[in-house]
Amino acid sequence: MQKVVAAGIGITKFGEHWNKSLRELAVEAALKAINDAEIEHEQIDAIWIGNMSSGRFIGQEHLGALIASDLGLNCGATRVEAACASGGLAIRQTYLALLSEKIDCALVIGVEKMTDLPTEEATVTLAAASDQEWEAYYGVTFPGLYAMLAKKHMHEFGTTREQLALVAVKNHEHGSLNPIAQFRNRITVEDVLNSSPVAEPLNLLDCSPISDGAAAILLCREDFLKPEKPVYLVASGHAVDTIALHERTSLTEITATKLAAKRAYEEAGIKPEQIDFAEVHDCFTIAEILAYEDLGFCEKGNGGKFVEDGETSLQGRIPVNTSGGLKSCGHPVGATGVKQAVETVLQLREEAGERQVKGARIGLTHNVGGSGATCVVHIWKKEF
Ligand code: COA
Repeated sequence: MQKVVAAGIGITKFGEHWNKSLRELAVEAALKAINDAEIEHEQIDAIWIGNMSSGRFIGQEHLGALIASDLGLNCGATRVEAACASGGLAIRQTYLALLSEKIDCALVIGVEKMTDLPTEEATVTLAAASDQEWEAYYGVTFPGLYAMLAKKHMHEFGTTREQLALVAVKNHEHGSLNPIAQFRNRITVEDVLNSSPVAEPLNLLDCSPISDGAAAILLCREDFLKPEKPVYLVASGHAVDTIALHERTSLTEITATKLAAKRAYEEAGIKPEQIDFAEVHDCFTIAEILAYEDLGFCEKGNGGKFVEDGETSLQGRIPVNTSGGLKSCGHPVGATGVKQAVETVLQLREEAGERQVKGARIGLTHNVGGSGATCVVHIWKKEF
C-alpha cells in the first residue's frame, strides 16, 4: 500500500504584511518547506496552490505559473479554489496525485493577501463565495450568515453567548504560544462580550480577522523519500452541500463536514474518539462549536458545554486549534487549510514547543469553504 508522507513544512508569519507581496509570501513559505525536506528543487514534480481570490484581492491571477517560476521551477503548477477551503483542497488534490503514482513528490502552497483592500471591499470579495443570487445580492455577508447559524444553535440547544465567547478565549490562549500568530494577546469572556457588535450575536472578537500569509507542505510517497520524523497523511474526505443556507435541511449541522469526516474516518479505519488533537475551521466562534459536533467529538447540541468544560483546551481531552485557530492565528483564506497541516505536522513531530500536545499520535484537520458548502477533512498519523 502506498504511503503519503509530509517531508517538509514552511510558514510565514500571519498578519498584515505591508512590505511583502503575495508572491514573496508564497515563495518564503515554499523555500522553508523545501529546505526543511532537504531536497533539491528539481525533485519536485508538481505544485498545487490553494488561493481563494488573488484576482480580486490584489489583481493577480495565474498563480501557478507566477509562483512556480519565482521558485525557478517549470513543473506543472495548478491553482485550486474552494473559498476558505482552497488550501485543504490543494492538499487533497496532491494526495490523490501521489497515490496515482504519476508523480513522486509535490509542493502544496496556500496563500492569500487580503489586507491590501479596506475591510468593506474585503468583505464583498469574501461574500463572492456565498450564493450571489440568494445571499450576497440581499446584502448578507459571512458574519451575517454565521450569525444565523449561531442564533439557531442557541435557540435549539440553549447554547449561550458566553460559550461562544469561550471558543475565542481558548484560541487566543493557544495563539499566545504561537510565534506566527496574528494576535498573541490573551482575552477574557468579558472582552468578547464587550467588543464591537458585527452581526448579532457575533461581536468583533467572535470573528477571524482579515490576514495575509502563506503556508507550504511538501508531500511525497514514502518509497520516494522517508524523512527522519515522518508524518503520514492517511485519509482525505471531501464533501459539498448547497451554498445557500435556505436550501439546507438543517441549520444546526454542517452536512459537508459530517460527510467529509465520515469518509476520512472510514479511509483511516478509526473513530472520532481516537483523534488526539484537531485543527478545525473556527472562522467564527459558532463554527468551532458546530465542528466539535459534526466531527463526532461530542453529541449534537453539546458543543457549547464541550468548550465550557475545557475538553478542547491544551490540557483537555482533545485539544482543538493549538495554533490559535483562524481566530487568533489569523485567516488568510487560501492559506488556512495548509497552515492547519503545518501545525499538525509540528505536533506529530513533537516540535510545537509550549503548545505541544503530549503523546499526540493522530491529528485531524478540518477546512471549510463558505458557510459550510465545502469541507475537506484530513487525518494525519505518526505511524502508518
Ligand atoms: N479579532 C481580533 N482583533 C481584531 C479582529 C479580529 N477578528 N479584527 C480586527 N481586530 C483589531 C485590529 O487589530 C484593530 O486593533 P487596533 O485598534 O489595536 O489596531 C481593531 O480590531 C480594529 O480593526 P479594524 O481592521 O478596523 O477592524 P474592522 O472593523 O475593519 O474589521 C471585522 C473587523 C471583524 C469586521 C473583520 O476582521 C472581518 O470581517 N472578519 C471576518 C473575516 C471573514 O469573514 N472571513 C471569512 C470567513 S468565512
